[in-house]
Amino acid sequence: MLPVIIDAKLCKKDELCVHECPLSVLTVEEKGLIPTVHPKKTNYCINCGHCMAVCPTGAITLTAFDGQQATPFSKEELPDSAAVETLIKTRRSVRKFKKKNISVQEIGELIHISAYSPSGHNAQPVSWTVLDTPEKVYELGKVVVEWMEEMVKQKNPLAEKLFLAGLVNAWKKGNDAICRNAPAIAVAWAPKLGITPQADTIIATNTLELAAHAKGYGTCWAGYVILAAAYSTKVLRHLDIPEEHMAHGALFLGHPAVRYRSIPPRHEAVAKEQDGKFIFHARPNTH
Ligand SMILES: Cc1cc2nc3c(=O)[nH]c(=O)nc-3n(C[C@H](O)[C@H](O)[C@H](O)COP(=O)(O)O)c2cc1C
Repeated sequence: MLPVIIDAKLCKKDELCVHECPLSVLTVEEKGLIPTVHPKKTNYCINCGHCMAVCPTGAITLTAFDGQQATPFSKEELPDSAAVETLIKTRRSVRKFKKKNISVQEIGELIHISAYSPSGHNAQPVSWTVLDTPEKVYELGKVVVEWMEEMVKQKNPLAEKLFLAGLVNAWKKGNDAICRNAPAIAVAWAPKLGITPQADTIIATNTLELAAHAKGYGTCWAGYVILAAAYSTKVLRHLDIPEEHMAHGALFLGHPAVRYRSIPPRHEAVAKEQDGKFIFHARPNTH
């Protein structure tokens, strides 16, 4: 089965697809002919759909997507750069949520948007575990706290660095600084081995975060959950994450109970020219 199907009736023989394909899967045997899949490259296609995306006549479909058409869009539909900048700058880590659940359907929609994130070789290796009630998030919190207690008991240096004892004590007093009493969590995971699974997972999580903000939901990265999942198989099992997989992203989700009225400042990276290169030095927070 060939990965790319070109409709001969629609093809204008402009060769845009041939020039666009990142793996040179498409070729034209002779000027003026309809492009074909290079016989030695039938396995090279990564289903990125760039051939479809550049085709002005919709002549191309991918076998992997059962002949589904690409979705046309016009430039006018794009948000202007000021709107995108505002979206990025107004996103905040939300740590207080209304007592209102966010449904698994709503989270599913965000997950589907995040599937449009870039991934190395278009591998799209990211799966998600969603807990959609505060009770389920609390149960996860209990397993994370168990791991924290173990780290404290073992005098693991990380326990001191991250004040785990304090977090455990607060949890026991009913103050949840670990899961923030969130009504839902979406944990992103991928195989440990692959092309760029860690980067892919983090990018997918960040994309979901921005999509959620655009729709008015609040999110916060669940750093302790990610950390606990890296150390504790019990946490991984609780999240139904299979062996040889890792969680690199996790977001608490809900309806924000806080309204942010302004954008706090951030340091701009300082640019310096060095041997013809420009280094934008981070200015890390000191705290
Ligand atoms: C990888 C990662 C892990 C984080 N983990 C937590 C966390 O466990 N709990 C929390 O309250 N905030 C967490 N945060 C949120 C950061 O504290 C927050 O992004 C930072 O203070 C800047 O605030 P802002 O997101 O509102 O711009 C995490 C952020 C990142 C990127």
